[in-house]
Amino acid sequence: MTPFRCSVRDRTIVAHWRRSRKQPRIVASRLAVARRRGDYNVGVNDDFDSITESTPLLAELRARIAADGPMTFRAFMEAALYHPRFGYYTTSAGSMGRGGDYVTSPEVHPVFGALVAKQIFELWNVMSRPARFDIVEHGGGSGLLARDILTWVSRREPAFAGALRYRIVETSPSLREVQQRTLADAGLADRVEWSTTATVGVTGCVLSNELIDAFPVHRVVRAGGVLREVYVTLDEHGRFADELRAPSDPAIASYFDDLQLLPGEGCFAEVNLDAPRWIADVAASLDRGYVLTFDYGYEAPDLHAPWRRDGTLLCFSRQSASSDPYQRVGKQDMTASVDFTTLRRSGEAAGLRTLGMTDQSDFLVRMGIGDTIASVAQERPGEMEEYFARRRVVMDLIDPARLGRIKVLLQGKGVELAPLLGFEGDPA
Ligand SMILES: C[S@@+](CC[C@H](N)C(=O)[O-])C[C@H]1O[C@@H](n2cnc3c(N)ncnc32)[C@H](O)[C@@H]1O
Repeated sequence: MTPFRCSVRDRTIVAHWRRSRKQPRIVASRLAVARRRGDYNVGVNDDFDSITESTPLLAELRARIAADGPMTFRAFMEAALYHPRFGYYTTSAGSMGRGGDYVTSPEVHPVFGALVAKQIFELWNVMSRPARFDIVEHGGGSGLLARDILTWVSRREPAFAGALRYRIVETSPSLREVQQRTLADAGLADRVEWSTTATVGVTGCVLSNELIDAFPVHRVVRAGGVLREVYVTLDEHGRFADELRAPSDPAIASYFDDLQLLPGEGCFAEVNLDAPRWIADVAASLDRGYVLTFDYGYEAPDLHAPWRRDGTLLCFSRQSASSDPYQRVGKQDMTASVDFTTLRRSGEAAGLRTLGMTDQSDFLVRMGIGDTIASVAQERPGEMEEYFARRRVVMDLIDPARLGRIKVLLQGKGVELAPLLGFEGDPA
């Protein structure tokens, strides 16, 4: 079973595995027992992988460290994920979905895209049905969310379909190709435009799903009451290893100052400085409309709670999760939970108003996911097998221990306040 990028169970087990790495036999047997029980998806990476492995990316990173000294973890993560030739997202065209490294909501079932489309249709109505409405999706993955939104709109709301212009902002050339194939297969290729950066003059909705948790992060640890940053160096065997240094950027200390908190003593934490920059760019790109963000994350006090000793960094590869970023460099995904307090406040500083925040579980239930599942039973009573299959799959979307715990944030600019289906009872 392919893991979701951040399930609670994965985290707990991975944290345990990380603490116990010095006792590989015990860990291996625990893993074997848990696997037999079918409890979770977590793999033990081969510790020798990174020493014996030689890829152009590893060679380049080792040469860089040898020449320039240790690099920040952020620079390492950026290279591992987004190196223009060898990064995970540059090369990993087939990494998402049931057969890939991890599963996101659009990969689970088209009902996710259909219910997001229904919410955006309501936003178009609140804006008094402008003649042109843009959906700008940042980080389109395999293109399924675009496909499912456009399919729902064309079938269900032809007037909205006439106003809709869909753009995907995608930095990975290989994923852009995958998106183009997905949309061409659905006969929707001519309904979508692409760009690599946010375009200005948007009237409509900027949308993203699991984008911000894939931004490269600084890693810090609080040691002796002082913040230290994790740099990546090479040990005597040529393996990547942590080295603690003074923070590379004053913005790291300012980030915690603004929140008026620090990680607990001895705790690791991630600082995503790209997230506030991204939301400021998005706010500037929007003339009038909304920003609808789905991502794994927490409010800052929860994200940096003293019991979260290892931070939230997780890596995904070959259907297993680990917390070791130095394995399979460039061949595994890396993710860190989003600080929604800072994201919200940065949006507000850039002119966005926070309109609602909820969990995906509540959002999808309010949007009518229950009725959608039940409609199979009512419309085609002979097809109970399909009903149960669909129900099982769709439950993953709302399971609070899985995709259901993803946060959904709605921000707006130049729009009227109005009660909205997906956020009713959860005003910001
Ligand atoms: C974890 S994947 C999520 C994909 C998709 N939204 C989904 O839910 O399946 C992250 C996506 O964001 C893209 N991406 C990363 N940084 C980006 C940026 N700064 N601007 C636009 N896309 C970006 C990646 O190439 C990839 O398509």
